[in-house]
Amino acid sequence: MPDIAFAKPALPKSGALALLIHEGEKPSGLWAQLDEAAGGAIERAFRVAEFKGGKGKTCSILAPCAGITRVLAIGLGKPAEISQTILEEAGGTIVANLSHEAAVAVASCALTPQQSAEVALGAILRSYRFDRYRTKEKPDDKPKLSRVTVLTAEVAKAKAEWEPLNATAKGVFLTRDLVTEPPNVLDPPEMAERCRRLSELGLKVEIFGPKEMGKLGFGALLGVSQGSAKEPRMVVLHWNGAGGNGRKSKDKPVVFVGKGVTFDTGGISIKPAGGMEDMKWDMAGAGTVIGLMAALAGRRAKVDAIGLVGLVENMPSATAQRPGDVVTSYSGQTIEVINTDAEGRLVLADVIWYAQQKYDPKFMIDLATLTGAIIIGLGHEYAGLFSNDDALSRKLTAAGQATGERVWRMPLDDAYDKQIRSDIADMKNVGGRPGGSITAAQFIQRFVNAKPWAHLDIAGMAWSTKDTAVTPKGATAFGVRLLDRLVADHYES
Ligand code: BES
Ligand code: MN
Ligand code: ZN
Repeated sequence: MPDIAFAKPALPKSGALALLIHEGEKPSGLWAQLDEAAGGAIERAFRVAEFKGGKGKTCSILAPCAGITRVLAIGLGKPAEISQTILEEAGGTIVANLSHEAAVAVASCALTPQQSAEVALGAILRSYRFDRYRTKEKPDDKPKLSRVTVLTAEVAKAKAEWEPLNATAKGVFLTRDLVTEPPNVLDPPEMAERCRRLSELGLKVEIFGPKEMGKLGFGALLGVSQGSAKEPRMVVLHWNGAGGNGRKSKDKPVVFVGKGVTFDTGGISIKPAGGMEDMKWDMAGAGTVIGLMAALAGRRAKVDAIGLVGLVENMPSATAQRPGDVVTSYSGQTIEVINTDAEGRLVLADVIWYAQQKYDPKFMIDLATLTGAIIIGLGHEYAGLFSNDDALSRKLTAAGQATGERVWRMPLDDAYDKQIRSDIADMKNVGGRPGGSITAAQFIQRFVNAKPWAHLDIAGMAWSTKDTAVTPKGATAFGVRLLDRLVADHYES
C-alpha cells in the first residue's frame, strides 16, 4: 500500500504526475507550468488524443520533460456533476495505472480539501493486496508505488479530512483480509482471536464459546455448528463513543449483526463441488461488521455501536444435524431444519434475539451472504435490503448512493409466511424456490421484536471476480463504507 501525503502544489522533480481535469477546464497553475516545462507537449498530446477531461477518460504521456517519468491526465467530467464516487474513481485509476512508479504526485486546480481526501481514499482502496501466501513472487511483479502525494493549497485541511477516511479504509482492509483468508486458517476460534486484537482500538470485546451459548440456549446456531470439529464462537464488539472519546451515553446503541459461516459446505444437504471454494467467504457479513466496528473506533465516531457476529463452520459429519431435525432457538421458537444448507438464518436467529434481549437497540442491521437467489434477482450491482422501517430504508438507500455501495429494497409480507410453515414445529428453515431471498428475510423477521430492523443480503456483493474502480477483484468489504456513512450522516452526537 502506498503512503498518502498532502503537500503544496509544486512540479515534482521525479516520479509520475496525475493531473485531474474537469471537462472544459483551461490550463492554469501546475498544469500550465507543466505544459511550459514540456514545451507545449501536454497540450499537443491532449489534442491528438482528443482528451477534453470527460468523465473517466484518461491520457497518458511518457517522459514529457526532465524528471517527470509520466503524466496521467484523468477526466473528472463537468464540474456541476462532480461527486465523491468520481473523485474516488480518479484515485483508483491512478493506482491501477501507475503501480509500477515509485511515487505519484496528484495535481488539480479546482479541488476542495474534502475532495482531495476523497481522491486519496480511492487510491488507497484500489491499492489493496493480499499476498500473505505468495512465497515466490518476483520483485518486478509487486507494485512499486510507495507514495501518493496529493497536491493542495490547503494542506492542513486536507489532512484533517483524510484522517477519518483513512480509518474507514483501514476497516475496509481488515474486512478484505478476513474475507480473503482461507477457511483452514480462518475458522471460528481464529476469527474470534482477530476480534480480540481490536481492543487496541478501544473496542470492548466479549467472546462466547459453545458452553456459554449452550447455557443461553442457542439451539439454532449450535445445531449448525455441531457437525464441525471447530468450535463455534459469538463475538460482541462494543464501541462507546457517543459520550465523547471512548465514553458511553445514555442513548440506545445502534446494533450490527453479521453471519459468520467460515466455511459452508451445505452440511448433510451438501453443495456440489464446483465453486464450493467460494464458500470461504460465507463469513463476509461478520467480516463486514468487524471492519465497520474497527472503522468507527478508528475514527472515534461519536456513537454507541455494538457489533455481534455468529461464527460457525457448516460441515457434514457423523455429528452433523440432519434434514428433519427440530431445534429450539434462543427465542424459544422451534425450527424444523429441512435443508442444512439454509444455515445462515439459523445462526442469525439466535444472535439477533440475543442482541435485542441484551441491548435494546435503536435499530438493528444484519448483514449476510444469505441466499443465492438474491444474485439471481439483483446480480452484482445492488445488495438486497429488507426492512420493517421506511425511514431506516431511506437512510440506507441514500448512504448507498453516496458511497457507491448500493442497496435495493425488496418486499416483506406476511403472505410469504405460508411457505415456511412446518407440520411439526413453529417454522421450517426453507420456503422453496419462489422468492427465496424473501422467505429467508421473513424467517429472520420472526426473531425481530418490534424494533427498527434492516437485513442486507450481500451474497452478490461480498466478492468480485473483476477489478472495479476502487476494488481489486476478490473481497470487496461491501457494507463497511455504507454503514460507516449511515452512522456518520445520522447517528453521531
Ligand atoms: N451461503 C449460501 C448462500 C450463497 C450462495 C452465498 C452463493 C453466496 C453465493 C447459503 O447458506 C445457502 O446455501 N443458501 C441456500 C438456501 C437454500 C437451501 C434455501 C441457497 O441459496 O441455495
Ligand atoms: Mn448454505
Ligand atoms: Zn451460507
